[in-house]
Amino acid sequence: MKEAFKDKFLMGVAINRSQINQANKEEIDLITSQFNALTAENDMKWMYLHPKQDEFNFEQADKLVELAAENDMFVVGHTLVWHSQLAPWVFKTAEGDTIDDAELTNRLKNHISTIVGKYKGKIEGWDVVNEALAEDGSYRKSAFFKIGGEGFIENAFRFAHEADPEAELYYNDYNLINADKRDGAIRIVKNLKSKGIKIDGVGVQAHWSLNEPSIEEIETAIEMYAATGVKVMFTELDITVLPSPWEKSTADISTRFENSPTMNPYPESLPDSVQTQLANRYADIFELFNKHSDKISRVTFWGLHDGLSWKNNFPIRGRTDYTLLFDRNMKPKKAYLAVIQTVED
Ligand code: XIL
Repeated sequence: MKEAFKDKFLMGVAINRSQINQANKEEIDLITSQFNALTAENDMKWMYLHPKQDEFNFEQADKLVELAAENDMFVVGHTLVWHSQLAPWVFKTAEGDTIDDAELTNRLKNHISTIVGKYKGKIEGWDVVNEALAEDGSYRKSAFFKIGGEGFIENAFRFAHEADPEAELYYNDYNLINADKRDGAIRIVKNLKSKGIKIDGVGVQAHWSLNEPSIEEIETAIEMYAATGVKVMFTELDITVLPSPWEKSTADISTRFENSPTMNPYPESLPDSVQTQLANRYADIFELFNKHSDKISRVTFWGLHDGLSWKNNFPIRGRTDYTLLFDRNMKPKKAYLAVIQTVED
């Protein structure tokens, strides 16, 4: 895949802890032969990298960076500032009170400078801020926002840039194709740029389904983001084939629903007709990406194969989903061939 798309954009994959530790050689071979960019699926989130105020834990991140260096892969740092998978100490003083804006700024500076500084020149792109928007495009009312206002976003990008002036800096979120949220992200980009703060890209998570969002909506968003002068990235691509319990899709990881046979229609295997639908959907998406490859710098899949996809447990636990290009035996699916075909036509 990385060969097929080498003139278009990077092809990345998110890897889990066992893969970072190279527990299974077959998985590592597939990762390094197919992809040229790596993201840690979980291990570089705040709760793991910075579990206590005076304690950083770089063991897994170091291993990921080493694996990438050995195989000439681009490394994405995911993620510096996010309201989820955070450490409990972040908003509290030693006395248990909520910190004020000045202290939040101190803590963000220490967190970001230490991490970005440590991987200066090694981690080439950072999801500096993840998921700071609500569905209507206003700011998400997270503790970061309640304490720091929109200034927390500006500070985060400033501190990251100071720690590694060469690193690319991204704003990352889900549902960034929807008009309201898309316009919110564009507002963030413009606001940062108007203040002279560096931002290089918008990361569209791309937890999508067979029908949503439409190719037209994706195309409009690509064009609108690119028009602000940033690169567009599809940073967490997966396509669920399962029914959604929501009216509108989301990737808010705090929401969960009950499992049931209707919600889990393919526990044993995926019918050929749906396999074909998935392949066609992936082909349509990559045809669009290819058309706009001058604006797109990377496409990262959220997991190596169907058996490892987070969608098997989100937003309902214990389902069998078929979101990715490799099946549970790590064999390329029809969708894999369809994706490759979009560049071979
Ligand atoms: C997910 C991981 O895939 C899961 O293993 C974990 O339990 C929860 O987080 N948006 C993001 C990703 O930015 O970090 C999330 O990853 C999926 C939604």
